[in-house]
Amino acid sequence: MRKKIVAGNWKMNNDLAETQALISDLKSSVPETDVAVMIAPAFTNLYSAFQSLKDSNIEVIAQNMHQESKGAYTGEVSAAMLKSIGVKTVILGHSERREYFGETDELLAKKVDAAIANGMKVIFCFGELLEERKSDKHFEVVKTQLKDALFHLSETAWESIVLAYEPVWAIGTGETASPEQAQEIHAFVRNEIADQYDQALADNVSILYGGSVKPGNAAEIFGKPDVDGGLIGGAALNAADFTAIITAF
Ligand code: PGA
Repeated sequence: MRKKIVAGNWKMNNDLAETQALISDLKSSVPETDVAVMIAPAFTNLYSAFQSLKDSNIEVIAQNMHQESKGAYTGEVSAAMLKSIGVKTVILGHSERREYFGETDELLAKKVDAAIANGMKVIFCFGELLEERKSDKHFEVVKTQLKDALFHLSETAWESIVLAYEPVWAIGTGETASPEQAQEIHAFVRNEIADQYDQALADNVSILYGGSVKPGNAAEIFGKPDVDGGLIGGAALNAADFTAIITAF
């Protein structure tokens, strides 16, 4: 079912003490809301975060996982491991994973399959580079990413997918896609999903926007009909800003 979602991607920030401090601030500032609120701390702090938030309305999610269930994959973490500590949602395909760790849509298709096989939900990130936008290839790029990573999924599997459009040129740069640019891609993506599956399925997929969302621009972006929330980086590291983004809905 299509939901309003605000998810904070903490990336490689916050050690254990900082994680606990931010969680304690969030517990007192995040209101009761119909928005699904999620935070993604680093792997080392997931368990403690989960324990601290298990009776709250803030879900603890992971930033990544490996596609295999176990074995000789030094440094990696599987879906089963995440599930065993209570984590039920994972971010996959973030542009930083694509850029710095060579993740391709072919690999991401396997990760998505592994997450779904383990009953997890996925926030799947996609989006174009600056050069691709400048050369007017953004629609084509986004379409290929979705096709290669997700269009093999069954209709039922889509119940576990949330999308996050994150134009790479807007991540951590202070530059935001305009609400119109976000809406244009979100509507395009929903249409592609409707073409591949059907309109009802497409209407049920939550599509988040990510890239320099701040308290000052959130309301306008979330106000667009095909924008169902946000994936927040920098502003998620501050409880007051993250809460203001949630209440902007
Ligand atoms: P940002 O990051 O909000 O710092 O631009 C967004 C993201 O990477 O998800």
